[in-house]
Amino acid sequence: MKPAKRIHAILTPAELPALRPADLADTLCVVFDVLRATSTFVTALQHGAKKIIPVCEISEALAERQKDPQVLLAGERDGVKIGPSLTGGITFDLGNSPREFVPEVVRDRIIISTTTNGTRALGACRPAQMVLAGAFLNLGATARFILAQPAERILLVCAGTGSQTALEDVLGAGALARRLLEQQEFALTDAAALALRAGELTGHELVEALCNTDNGKRLRSQSDLRIDVPFCAQTDVFDLVAGLSDDGLIWLR
Ligand code: MLT
Repeated sequence: MKPAKRIHAILTPAELPALRPADLADTLCVVFDVLRATSTFVTALQHGAKKIIPVCEISEALAERQKDPQVLLAGERDGVKIGPSLTGGITFDLGNSPREFVPEVVRDRIIISTTTNGTRALGACRPAQMVLAGAFLNLGATARFILAQPAERILLVCAGTGSQTALEDVLGAGALARRLLEQQEFALTDAAALALRAGELTGHELVEALCNTDNGKRLRSQSDLRIDVPFCAQTDVFDLVAGLSDDGLIWLR
């Protein structure tokens, strides 16, 4: 009998540098940065953005703008939109709040985004067979898509915050593992089983849990960002799959 496909999880960003291309060859990665990068990217695609190009450094984003003045610059440091003090004069067009990425602003646009952890985690997974951006917003669509893929190994990547584990990402990874297991048998590693245990929350419990994470508390301490938390806790509101192609994150149709 064919062995069950495997689900593994990376719970802390400190594990990312150890990821080698060889480890990712037969692997489908799902990157979770629930507060807020992957939630924002999924929202931007839902609202008509052409693609999101995730970069690690501010200098890379500025270089992309040099190449193509039509691109939108997006991103944060310490949760705040990147401004002149970090760029030498330029203020980015957008920060990293999903509520900024409305159709009037992002439709048919190319967005260059640099965030503290999310864009780094996407970059670290690039050698994989396939890389998806995971969020509660598109959880069901992502699960259905994965069940139809040939990859033998599913790697749930929690982007974290700084060098720390971010509970909201583990909750997202666990919720996806739960959806997959409802449909098919998978072998889970201990890290994936840990996420699964954590990922049992839904509805109001989920909003409350996200509000009480370190990132949730940080965002709620800023009046203009506090409602980003319940926004990112919405589940299955977008029927889209966000995948990393050679030149950026796109809506996989
Ligand atoms: C990150 O990429 O580290 C987060 O998405 C940052 C944030 O949105 O505050």
